[in-house]
Amino acid sequence: MSASKSYLLALDQGTSSSRSIVFDRDGNVVAVAQRELRQIYPQPGWVEHDPREIWADQLATAREALARAGLQASDLAGIGITNQRETTLVWDRATGEPVANAIVWQDRRTAPMCERLRERGLEPMFRARTGLVLDAYFSGTKLAWLLDRVPGARERAAVGELAFGTIDSWLIWQLTGGADRATRAKAVHATDVSNASRTLLFDVHANRWHDELLGALDVPRALLPQVHRSSHVFGETTPDLLGAPVPIGGVAGDQQSALFGQACFGPGQVKNTYGTGCFMLMNTGARFETSTHGLITTSAAQTGAEPQYAREGSVFVGGAVVQWLRDGLQAIRSSTEVEALAASVPDSGGVLFVPAFTGLGAPYWKPDARGAIVGLSRGTTIAHIARAALESIAFQSAALLDAMRRDAGPDGASSVAELRVDGGASVNDLLMQFQADLLGIPVLRPRVTETTALGAAYLAGLACGVYASTDELAAQWRVERRFVPTMSRSEASERMARWEHAVAQATA
Ligand code: G3P
Repeated sequence: MSASKSYLLALDQGTSSSRSIVFDRDGNVVAVAQRELRQIYPQPGWVEHDPREIWADQLATAREALARAGLQASDLAGIGITNQRETTLVWDRATGEPVANAIVWQDRRTAPMCERLRERGLEPMFRARTGLVLDAYFSGTKLAWLLDRVPGARERAAVGELAFGTIDSWLIWQLTGGADRATRAKAVHATDVSNASRTLLFDVHANRWHDELLGALDVPRALLPQVHRSSHVFGETTPDLLGAPVPIGGVAGDQQSALFGQACFGPGQVKNTYGTGCFMLMNTGARFETSTHGLITTSAAQTGAEPQYAREGSVFVGGAVVQWLRDGLQAIRSSTEVEALAASVPDSGGVLFVPAFTGLGAPYWKPDARGAIVGLSRGTTIAHIARAALESIAFQSAALLDAMRRDAGPDGASSVAELRVDGGASVNDLLMQFQADLLGIPVLRPRVTETTALGAAYLAGLACGVYASTDELAAQWRVERRFVPTMSRSEASERMARWEHAVAQATA
């Protein structure tokens, strides 16, 4: 392979922004372009995105990133796509028009539908086949809602006129011809196992859509994309989009992509991404294991013939608590001020902040919980509240690792040796130190924290011949800073017990 053809372009379509990053073959960031994504809140508890904006922004950032890198499309070996997961959309195959806005993963409108499915006794079947719990978070009930509410949608879906996709499918389809009427009929309608595993429609054991799941949600099969492994040539971009055709060689949901980008290739390796929410994933290898402590099982990015699994805990409000300090409480002007404000006091002064703004995700699964700040005294200042807000991110993440350790049992408990971290809030040293203190294991921040995008680039690089094996990728992973625990284990347990008590108060 020529040196110039060894660059990789990652398209990272997230909840709050669409980004494109060019990497060189050593995993270094060459150029980045980003656009904020408009959030649409039609009703309390509802969150939508405009799919046309997503596509326009993603394409614009891809072009910008290439221009900033001083590269042409012909310099790229491949494109990797990674995306906010579960967000659901349906479009018309002939016109390319979405039938409605995309329903975002945070949207709670289908909570009553989940309740009805639970009342019908279907949760064990969903759990056994998909590894998921019945929650509005996942795509299945969002898709059923669209088919119920958009006039004629279910009938049109049944005869193959409509296409369902998570954001990866939408981007693949646009990139491979869907964007233009002349090429639309040849556009590729596909997804990868890691995205499919978030839909409640996919049997993660057999790696295929399953009739019993489709039947329970009344979803016609003709609507669904083809599912491939994550490192696979899905198709080529139409030449006019970037100036030359480029193979799409990797696709993965953002959290599984981050697990891959963190080079967590071995069972027992764990990463936590501190974004809007926090997502902790443990590689469990080829073994599907059901959590008994409030976690879910999901398909990891798959490069070979065998399915790979991860255990996952998703916290709905992580870094978003800092946004609330800024926009809701107006305690800070920009998110970067939070570290200094929190560090201006030695501790939270007994304040605990449970940021259950949209209920609590794993391991609690309490959709009706609402936020609480407890332990206020006359001496409490805004700095204590800021510190408690930051600490809430670490407490929620520690509850996830605790659940993972319990699931692993007494032998597995000690096998979690370290936590690899990434995402926006991982730059916060105070937070990372507190995280290490609570967990009692080192927290490792890598040199490249763009691990979500890097994972997608790696998946594409493997499919397009840039890398021969994951060993090469593991060799590229380097630590930038290691946070070593300094708190005594008894104090850490006492702090966790006080946190759990505060959660109990918020969910009472
Ligand atoms: O499951 C939701 C997750 O994929 C969203 O990630 O980074 O877009 O907030 P992010």
